[in-house]
Amino acid sequence: MFSRSAIRTLAAPSSRLFSSSSARQTKVAVLGAGGGIGQPLSLLLKSDPLVTSLSLYDIRGAPGVAADVSHVDTASEVNGYAADQLDEALEGVKVIVIPAGVPRKPGMTRDDLFNTNASIVRDLAAAVARVAPTACILVISNPVNSTVPIVAATLEKAGVFDPARVFGVTTLDVVRAARFLGGIAGAKPSDTPVTVIGGHSGATIVPLLSQSSHGKAVDGEAYLKLVNRIQYGGDEVVKAKDGAGSATLSMAYAGAKFTNLVLRGLNGEKGVVTPTFVKSPLFADKGVDFFSSNVELGLNGVEKIHPIGELSEAEQGLLEACLPELKKNIEKGKAFVA
Ligand code: NAI
Repeated sequence: MFSRSAIRTLAAPSSRLFSSSSARQTKVAVLGAGGGIGQPLSLLLKSDPLVTSLSLYDIRGAPGVAADVSHVDTASEVNGYAADQLDEALEGVKVIVIPAGVPRKPGMTRDDLFNTNASIVRDLAAAVARVAPTACILVISNPVNSTVPIVAATLEKAGVFDPARVFGVTTLDVVRAARFLGGIAGAKPSDTPVTVIGGHSGATIVPLLSQSSHGKAVDGEAYLKLVNRIQYGGDEVVKAKDGAGSATLSMAYAGAKFTNLVLRGLNGEKGVVTPTFVKSPLFADKGVDFFSSNVELGLNGVEKIHPIGELSEAEQGLLEACLPELKKNIEKGKAFVA
């Protein structure tokens, strides 16, 4: 069990992207390494001291990205794999990060990506089930609320689903929340961490501002604006990029940060707690069996799912709006695999 202050400290954004207190290291694969997220994510993972070896796979361009990233003067080894080398890319891998798929254009919701990304993610998960069935899978591809259930159902079909090892990466919401609250509070984002629960799209993103001292101080119109900005922050980037895609650099940062937390847990570090979208009992009685909340990461992936804690009246309202939409997104993912 962790006291609230301990959780805050560990989930807090830090000025250092990576932290490592252990010597054990790991082979990590990026599927979709040639893309807008995949390239900077691969670069950041090359700098993570907990990564021994990086396998970069994409249907386009991964060998080039690998050759480029491999010149960075850190100890890890880097290999690139072409479209027909997925199985080789996955051999011996312990952690698999998936940013493969199409991103949004202006006017699109994350759910609009379903038709394209659902089959990409399903096929990649089927390969993981075959070649690296005990690896941790970190899903970035949108819509995360549906792609995570797709990965889980695909592994389940293959008889290798372990709920402790499948994660939806919601870290960008956590990163944005800390950054935006920091801006309002006039404080460093490392001093304004926010737990974000629910899912990863619009109204399913539920920031628990009442659980932080800086967040509690924001009310009225400012509160409503802040919540809206955390929920729809991705739209700011999509609009500004004007047809050239969605968040890639901040997402790569968030993806590398989350990967490092998973690696720290796998390496035996205690007390690594962060929000992530996992198979969860918290709202299973309401038909929502995947949910993001603070999760303790450990030697086997998910060690413990923390309760959501006390919510303000406004947050209760946000949660009520989140659950039915999240339920629909999850069911859509499951139905796709069934
Ligand atoms: P991108 O189009 O720049 O890159 C996607 C890459 O995936 C491309 O290189 C493409 O060749 C590759 N790809 C396509 N099919 C593949 C397959 N079957 N196997 C391997 N690679 C494949 O897109 P970007 O901007 O990197 O975004 C990727 C995904 O991440 C999108 O679905 C986007 O919506 C999502 N995303 C998720 C966020 C989150 O917070 N979880 C935040 C931002 C984006």
